[in-house]
Amino acid sequence: YMVDKGNHRHFMEKEIYEQPEVISHALSHYVDLASYSIRPDIAGIDFEHLKGLAISACGTAYLSGLVGKYWFERYARLPVEIDVASEFRYRELPLSKDQAALFISQSGETADTLASLRYCKDEGLSIGAVVNVSESTIAREADAVFPILAGPEIGVASTKAFTCQLAVLASLSIAAGRARGRITAEEEREMVRHLSEMPRIMSRVLNSIHDPIEQLSRELSKFRHVLYLGRGTSYPLALEGALKLKEISYIHAEGYAAGELKHGPIALIDETMPVIVIAPHDRFFEKTVSNMQEVAARGGKIIFITDEKGAAASKLETMATIVLPDVAEIIAPMVFSLPIQLLAYHTAVFMGTDVDQPRNLAKSVTVE
Ligand code: AGP
Repeated sequence: YMVDKGNHRHFMEKEIYEQPEVISHALSHYVDLASYSIRPDIAGIDFEHLKGLAISACGTAYLSGLVGKYWFERYARLPVEIDVASEFRYRELPLSKDQAALFISQSGETADTLASLRYCKDEGLSIGAVVNVSESTIAREADAVFPILAGPEIGVASTKAFTCQLAVLASLSIAAGRARGRITAEEEREMVRHLSEMPRIMSRVLNSIHDPIEQLSRELSKFRHVLYLGRGTSYPLALEGALKLKEISYIHAEGYAAGELKHGPIALIDETMPVIVIAPHDRFFEKTVSNMQEVAARGGKIIFITDEKGAAASKLETMATIVLPDVAEIIAPMVFSLPIQLLAYHTAVFMGTDVDQPRNLAKSVTVE
């Protein structure tokens, strides 16, 4: 399979800009645009009778699963147990046959994720796999395969696979919500309509934030430590933002749930450690803003990633504010992934690191 960078400097940049196209491709597999509904034939998991869902994955795939947990619990009232695969496989987690297990992996070859899958298989659970490589071992050993259809991902830092995993998990959580009587047909139409608008919104965002992010990245590259904060589904995004930044720029970054700030990390705050806050104007917004105030009161520099309503509602002084359009709750995690990917990318470019092949990392970790 021949893949080239096209007009881009790095595969990572190309893969970031490819997202509107590949997400639209992935979505067309899961949603029927004529009726604005999730395709009935995608299921493969009997969500209606499920008592719980176990999710296991590594790295970025784990973080998409963490967003999925919020969705399955909120939209389908389906309890989700999730852990990184290297812990999950050894936890001897008690499982029962009325639960299903879901494994998320771009490569489909990650050793710990495969071992978790085999553990659940031995326990008699039905196994779903959210994978990019359909011929992979994880796909072969699963009962139901949910392809993310992102196309080959070459950059070691995962970008388009993450947002495509999210698109698939969003579709599955809507399907689960319908099957469990927690989402009405009308609500399903509304949510699917939002999903279908996402590729267009993402293209617009990619164009509008390029310059401000590049400018901000020049500033960010001067710091040695960064803290990422978020609440709700923005919490896994904060973890993903920190992971992406450390992987390719080698800046020390940590992601925290915004509400945990005062339980420890606030001790680190001074003008040498900027705090990146991911906060769309959702039901958590006011809470996150009060965490931002705590940062500001201690001389911390704030980088605020928000939407138009959020920008209008906050009067705090920031080092930079990145403003995205106001979007529906279900698509916010995908749209807010774009600035955190681009911020890591441009910062790494300024630092002069090997963006596509960062030191010490492999694209697919096939040993324990
Ligand atoms: C993300 O940028 C990573 N390089 C890494 O965390 C990756 O997501 C992880 O190794 C899982 O890989 P997989 O999706 O192929 O299983």
